[in-house]
Amino acid sequence: MKILAFNASPRKSQGTTDILMDTFIDGARKAGAEVEKHHIVDLDIKGCLGCFTCWWKTPGRCVHRDDMDWILPSISQADILLFGTPIYGRNVTNYMQRLLERTFSFSLPEMQNINGESTHPARIPNFPHLVLCATCGFPDVSNFNHVRALYPTAVHILLPSSQLLFKNDGKELLSGFLEAINLTGQKMAVGEELPVSLTKRLVVEYSDEMKKKIIDAHNQYSTSRL
Ligand SMILES: Cc1cc2nc3c(=O)[nH]c(=O)nc-3n(C[C@H](O)[C@H](O)[C@H](O)COP(=O)(O)O)c2cc1C
Repeated sequence: MKILAFNASPRKSQGTTDILMDTFIDGARKAGAEVEKHHIVDLDIKGCLGCFTCWWKTPGRCVHRDDMDWILPSISQADILLFGTPIYGRNVTNYMQRLLERTFSFSLPEMQNINGESTHPARIPNFPHLVLCATCGFPDVSNFNHVRALYPTAVHILLPSSQLLFKNDGKELLSGFLEAINLTGQKMAVGEELPVSLTKRLVVEYSDEMKKKIIDAHNQYSTSRL
């Protein structure tokens, strides 16, 4: 099983998104998967020009020559595509958006309607299973609404107030969540289906009391920094 992973956090290994990704990767490697992880900020990925050259002039090939030259074939050969992104402005980061836009050449120009939704057929025979990890600062899962809507069929691993991972009591509180991510990596690496009881554990929701504690702790810290 080949896993290709991209972290869209500019904080790379210093951030919390990477902790979630590495937890999944650790599980997958234990189960024998071959994993390659990249930090998108280190890659040369130019912005889509909207020229449609990859549709009409050189089908499947973009005008840009950059790291997407190896990323696109690698995605088409991967079994699992793992993306990690912090939430910036309730959305994925621009690093992730830039990479996603450049996968446009994977689609064929025709339009088709599948189950009432218009779409383009894929140019590549098999698209890898998608796993989407996202972290955010606020304690509410509503910050992930956009990420969830982006790829509704992906496996979503969502952690609000991910700064808790840098505190010992926070890490302890989230130990069951981290365990579920590791187990998901193990199961997906051997092609096992994920039971709903497991996917439910991949999204952290805090109680109102916990949210208040998080907000108070944040405001206290913020006052001390100003
Ligand atoms: C420019 C910017 C915008 C952000 N916007 C949001 C937001 O809309 N909602 C939210 O909950 N957190 C927001 N955050 C907080 C980040 O999502 C949070 O710090 C995240 O866990 C960082 O991931 P990392 O540790 O992997 O870098 C924002 C942070 C930055 C720097």
